[in-house]
Amino acid sequence: MSYDLVVIGTGPAGYVCAIRAAQLGLKTAVIEKDKTFGGTCLNVGCIPSKALLHASHLFEEAGHDFEGMGIGVSKPKLDLKQMQAFKQEGVDGNVKGVDFLFKKNKIDAIKGTGKITGPGKIDVDGKTVEAKHIVIATGSDVTRLKGIEIDEKRVVSSTGALALDKVPGKLLVVGAGVIGLELGSVWRRLGAEVQVVEFLDRILPGMDGEVARQFQRILEKQGVSFKLGSKVTAIDSKGKTLKASVEPAAGGKAEMIEADVVLVAVGRVPYTQGLGLKEVGVEMDERGRVKIDDHFQTNVKGIFAIGDVVRGAMLAHKGEDEGVAVAELIAGKAGHVNYDAIPNVIYTYPEVASVGKTEEELKQAGVAYRAGKFPFTANGRAKVNKTTDGFVKILADEKTDRILGAHIIGPDAGTMISEITVAMEFSGSAEDVARTCHPHPTLSEAVKEAALAVDKRPIHM
Ligand code: FAD
Ligand code: NAI
Repeated sequence: MSYDLVVIGTGPAGYVCAIRAAQLGLKTAVIEKDKTFGGTCLNVGCIPSKALLHASHLFEEAGHDFEGMGIGVSKPKLDLKQMQAFKQEGVDGNVKGVDFLFKKNKIDAIKGTGKITGPGKIDVDGKTVEAKHIVIATGSDVTRLKGIEIDEKRVVSSTGALALDKVPGKLLVVGAGVIGLELGSVWRRLGAEVQVVEFLDRILPGMDGEVARQFQRILEKQGVSFKLGSKVTAIDSKGKTLKASVEPAAGGKAEMIEADVVLVAVGRVPYTQGLGLKEVGVEMDERGRVKIDDHFQTNVKGIFAIGDVVRGAMLAHKGEDEGVAVAELIAGKAGHVNYDAIPNVIYTYPEVASVGKTEEELKQAGVAYRAGKFPFTANGRAKVNKTTDGFVKILADEKTDRILGAHIIGPDAGTMISEITVAMEFSGSAEDVARTCHPHPTLSEAVKEAALAVDKRPIHM
């Protein structure tokens, strides 16, 4: 078994890399240790979480918001088993799609655990696979808290939280990051009382501060409660209900919070177990990520790495773009990823989306900028739909007007952020977006108005 390129891992970074390499004429294989292709994203991440977010949102809408529009429905009943089956059907369909794409592109899919034994050599459960180039795309795993055992039944990571067979009476979420807020939203909508304990004194570190503050208020209105500046230090699981010890972040007197299920969502760590990296001399950084240069090359010639296992945002689309870029570089072309224009979306209701720099980052870097903000309360479509929570904010360079960042809270924020991402990819200015004709009546007119607001001339405000 000898190939131009072998990719270890078939998550979004790995499978996309393999497809692009095959398109470019490289003889390509992938190695996957799990039963199914698609990695975290398709099996226990993006896809199943979005299926449950979609279904639970409709459940909540039908229960609360239909009557005001004159739609009489009887109180919706939850059939959780069927909702989980709906989720699984979506996962299976996506996973099969990857299998189909491997076959279509004549990519050999090898099942087993890959261990690099030397440059160009990989052992897969006793068989040797040879490759001119190796791409490591082994992804990430859940961060564990010292002394807290995850049993995936009562004390769960995102994987267990996606598969609960009963709505918990009380769900305690540790970590007000993306997973905590998305999956916390799912179970609140389905009837759980949800409390979130966060180490920092704000939710969503890394997101624009103004966005995070407004989003916290919206979530609180929906019924989620927050305990900021606090940490869970132990969980007593002996009794019928779990007892979590919660202390101030800086340490101090602990209080006890009871819960039926605790979701530990305090981040993810790169996964390199059993890959043999130490033995072949591949360097790692202080956070356990595989070290790469600007061309995704590790310090060992012929071994590359992409996706969650390397620096940068742990996002599926970031990994996919790196997969395309590294395949193109290996094939002698000019692959490139623009890290300044990678969007980030939280699929709650309303959605939260951002791209580029936050106000905090610009201030810290001493960059002079102008901010244009437009609330959905002033957008015709949002008003008629009664979905007026949130705003669009665009940050542009004070002198050149070039867009440096954008932040949206609102329905469909995840779709709307793309037009600003395209503008940024073309080094566009706020004026460029403001002069672009937007269809009426759409939520996206708020993007145009925010761009106009950068120059203090919004029309509808
Ligand atoms: P992974 O998807 O983790 O894939 C790595 C693969 O490598 C796995 O299949 C693993 O089995 C395999 N592997 C590892 N070691 C070996 C080995 N030695 N031999 C063979 N195979 C090996 N991101 C988004 O952009 N949008 C979202 O909405 C989103 N939602 C998420 C929701 C949840 C609950 C979680 C947990 C994550 C979510 N993410 C989301 C993050 C996203 O899942 C990751 O960024 C993405 O999966 C990373 O892709 P990857 O290819 O680098 O790694
Ligand atoms: P995260 O990094 O987004 O959030 C973790 C949160 O936990 C932070 O707010 C952090 O301050 C807090 N925390 C850390 N230690 C703590 C402690 N001991 N006690 C209390 N709080 C603590 O990580 P999360 O939510 O686990 O998600 C992991 C990654 O998965 C994300 O960073 C993201 O890259 C990806 N993801 C992306 C999604 C999307 O794009 N929609 C959805 C879900 C996950």
